[in-house]
Amino acid sequence: MLDNLVYLDYNASTPVDERVLQGMMPFFTQRYGNASSKSHCMGWDASSAVEQARLQVLTLIGAKSPDEIIFTSGATESNNLAIRGVLEAVNGKHVITSAIEHPCVLNLCQSLKPMGVQHTSIRPDKSGVISPAAVEAAIRPDTALISVMAVNHEIGTIQPIREIAEVAKRHGILFHVDAAQGAGKVPLNVHKDGIDLLSISAHKIYGPKGVGALYRRKTPKETPINPQMIGGGQERGIRSGTLNVPGIVGLGLACHHAGAEMAHNQAIIHGLRERFLNRVRAETDQFHIHGCMERRVAGNLNIAFGEVPAEKLINALKTIAVSGGSACSSGQSKGSPVLRAMGYDQTEATRAVRMSFSHLTTEKEVDIASRIILDNAFRLGLEQSRAHCA
Ligand SMILES: Cc1ncc(COP(=O)(O)O)c(C=O)c1O
Repeated sequence: MLDNLVYLDYNASTPVDERVLQGMMPFFTQRYGNASSKSHCMGWDASSAVEQARLQVLTLIGAKSPDEIIFTSGATESNNLAIRGVLEAVNGKHVITSAIEHPCVLNLCQSLKPMGVQHTSIRPDKSGVISPAAVEAAIRPDTALISVMAVNHEIGTIQPIREIAEVAKRHGILFHVDAAQGAGKVPLNVHKDGIDLLSISAHKIYGPKGVGALYRRKTPKETPINPQMIGGGQERGIRSGTLNVPGIVGLGLACHHAGAEMAHNQAIIHGLRERFLNRVRAETDQFHIHGCMERRVAGNLNIAFGEVPAEKLINALKTIAVSGGSACSSGQSKGSPVLRAMGYDQTEATRAVRMSFSHLTTEKEVDIASRIILDNAFRLGLEQSRAHCA
């Protein structure tokens, strides 16, 4: 890895927090029992560590009972379990999502066609926000599930989850939230927000990759769900497979720190993003931010520099790690599907550079990144503003 790399792709993944790593370490080499082993203390020890992590996840999202938390391999699996699991369990024939969901939700819903499931996707307004009224208008008598993300992965917009939940409740429809980009960054409370199912992922919040959780509401009515992984019956039969104890411990600790430090870290991150933007504003007015700034997580910026194609700019930035969209959809020449859904044309949608900041980002890194990005953008045709040229 480059020593002088400035990493600004924290929406794609984050480093593991040192405190999280230290908490996980004993579970690789000393406390390596199988959490399902009931006959000896190594198993009891692993099981109690898993239960501690369950409580930490529960606390971050405001769940009521530990058995509402199902450990998975990440948000992709949680979303699959929630959406396919519910539709299978209730023999659902219609699902509504936003059109700016992560590919793991959109592709999954498309893949359910052979099961007879129809998928309606709701486009956001130009600011990247989904209207609860548009969701309500799409409801049919056979709608079984509504799934809308908490925070968008490309443009960082915060969706009106509570209002959409009210719509779902009014029509007696189950409501799932993909909170991979929202948990630990914006306050979420499954009870106050009226959420039946919620997906999270550890590696977006300074935990390890390959571990996540699904919240599944139990009260007042248990949310029906079909297991997608059949085996030894772990996780109350909903998700079989030997539990990833070190990963789960890491997820729990990541949730704990994210919750405890959310306000503090988000304030730092907001300041860093403003610093970057001020440096851009000082040299050019030829930039465009995709998605509204008012309803956006502090760490995200999705920006076009004049007419500079994002791919060219990103390829030129050898020492700055930013992306052209989500890690899962980058490299798409048709441009960002999120921006297309917002109404940008194909050319405009290929200009988006996604930058994501962390509380670990330094002011010096912001200054270096802004200088290198602007220099390269000017070289690729971005116009300097008159004030700066003079
Ligand atoms: C909104 C959203 N949902 C789901 C995922 C997939 O999460 P995971 O990597 O844990 O499978 C991501 C990852 O980028 C995401 O941003």
